[in-house]
Amino acid sequence: MFVTFEGPEGAGKSTALRSIAERLTNTGHSVLTTREPGGGALGKRIRQMLLDEGSVSPETEVLLFLADRANHVESIIEPALHENKIVLCDRHADSTVVYQGYGRGLDLEFLRNANRFATKGLVPNLTFLFDLEPEIGLERLKNPDGSRDVNRLDREPLEFHRKVRAGFLTLADEEPNRFVILDATKAPSALADDAYAEIVRRLGS
Ligand code: TYD
Repeated sequence: MFVTFEGPEGAGKSTALRSIAERLTNTGHSVLTTREPGGGALGKRIRQMLLDEGSVSPETEVLLFLADRANHVESIIEPALHENKIVLCDRHADSTVVYQGYGRGLDLEFLRNANRFATKGLVPNLTFLFDLEPEIGLERLKNPDGSRDVNRLDREPLEFHRKVRAGFLTLADEEPNRFVILDATKAPSALADDAYAEIVRRLGS
């Protein structure tokens, strides 16, 4: 089962992912946790290039995200799914459609096709959208708990983050079976409970 965690900055998806992985492991499941960008060996270097200071064009940016994804799918995700692991991935293809498409204005159809190319058609079985007003998420980032670095995309203007939120909600609306929208104003433990329950429900069905 391939599960992705998506949402705007500061929505708490990474914390929930860690907690769910622990619970699934404790109940005897074989789990792989990973993230984009930077999940694969090549991706770690691409992640550095992407998130460091300095400006790159939207075209360059998207090709780096896609290169990271292609390498990540073939070297990490596919082999784990082949071993019947539950793969929990922090961000994946939807982030490209939302950040580079809805956020930066690149062509959505191109991005969908490019994602299909990079993933060789792999689509998550389940995607959690940690939905949060950008004002709240950005405020949380100003008071970092030390668990993450503020990066180049975090520093985009509020308008960009509004487009990101709206983009995620549009995608969730288009694929209601794959997406589960979580209210990210909830406490981290409640969020993790909801997401864990949904995974268990789908594992059983
Ligand atoms: P990261 O430090 O992983 O942040 P987060 O905790 O928000 O996931 O940074 C990843 C950043 O890259 C984040 O701002 C979203 C952005 N991103 C894209 O713009 N396009 C993509 O395809 C992906 C995977 C991420």
